[in-house]
Amino acid sequence: MENSSLEKMIEEAISGAPDLKALEEVRIRFLGKKGELTQQLRNLGNLPPEARRDEGQKLNLVKERAESLLAGRSEEFKKQEVEARLEKERLDVTLPGVRFAAGKIHPITRITREIKNVFVGMGFEVAEGPEVESEYYNFEALNIPPDHPSREMWDSFYLGDGLLLRSHTSPVQVRVMEKRRPPLRVIVPGRCYRRDAVDASHSWMFHQIEGFMVDRKVTFSDLKGVLSAFAERMFGDGRKTSFNPSYFPFTEPSAEMAIDCFVCSGKGCSVCKQSGWIEILGAGMIHPAVLQAVGYDPEEFSGFAFGMGIERIAMKKYGINDIRLFFENDVRFLKQF
Ligand code: DAH
Repeated sequence: MENSSLEKMIEEAISGAPDLKALEEVRIRFLGKKGELTQQLRNLGNLPPEARRDEGQKLNLVKERAESLLAGRSEEFKKQEVEARLEKERLDVTLPGVRFAAGKIHPITRITREIKNVFVGMGFEVAEGPEVESEYYNFEALNIPPDHPSREMWDSFYLGDGLLLRSHTSPVQVRVMEKRRPPLRVIVPGRCYRRDAVDASHSWMFHQIEGFMVDRKVTFSDLKGVLSAFAERMFGDGRKTSFNPSYFPFTEPSAEMAIDCFVCSGKGCSVCKQSGWIEILGAGMIHPAVLQAVGYDPEEFSGFAFGMGIERIAMKKYGINDIRLFFENDVRFLKQF
């Protein structure tokens, strides 16, 4: 075959190869071990020396050209392949991402943490006690004897054998004092249970934070100072407090503390029920009988205690009008906090 026509054939085959694989076939067809060009180079030996040189030179030129064409084409295919892949895997980083629903802290947990932080900042430590409690700690040790009418304030779920679901967090006062000696500054968050019919403001399970401080010479002024500081940190600077006489068997004297309404600043609105004040906790000086029950001498030690309902505070703070919302786990409600 004429060299020029062989060269042309090779060129056409190379430019006609649609992809890398076809190109490789072209290479094998002409330059492979049994390739057409290889054959011809091999046949050179049969030519007379003169012709061999000329023919050899020409064939080698064809071979070089074929090799460089193949290399060029192969480069192009590889480039195209990379470009195609880049195009296919193109990522639009400006597309909005897939949104994951973010979890939130439950409002009760949040308020509990806020209250804890305020008291921890004033040197209080955090303690916990059992939800299944004995009648002794829930009542007797808190100066509420078996037939005392005030037990009705804490009608509970009785489990038999002198056990019940605790109706308040006050028993933990006794448990801590029994084990330790003053000075004590402790707060006790936790769940409580009462046999209340469920409605917008009652739930058979709810949360309280109890607190108490016992030392030599703790007075009602300390109670007012600590709880007024708490009211300001929790509900805003300049918050006013009002202490009104009340009754709890385990404190004497006893008081209810109210703060001026943080929504209307005392003018009267729906949150404070037009009174200008919001009651947030019960408190008092720990009754000598309670101190005696844990082996403290009431002549040597005195202390104050307080207890507040967390749901109640959360409801006031967030303007929630139904306690049941806290426990229904409706995501539309929980998402708001
Ligand atoms: N334990 C009371 C209740 O559940 C709340 C309370 C009132 C706790 C006065 C106290 C206190 O420590 O001094 O209603």
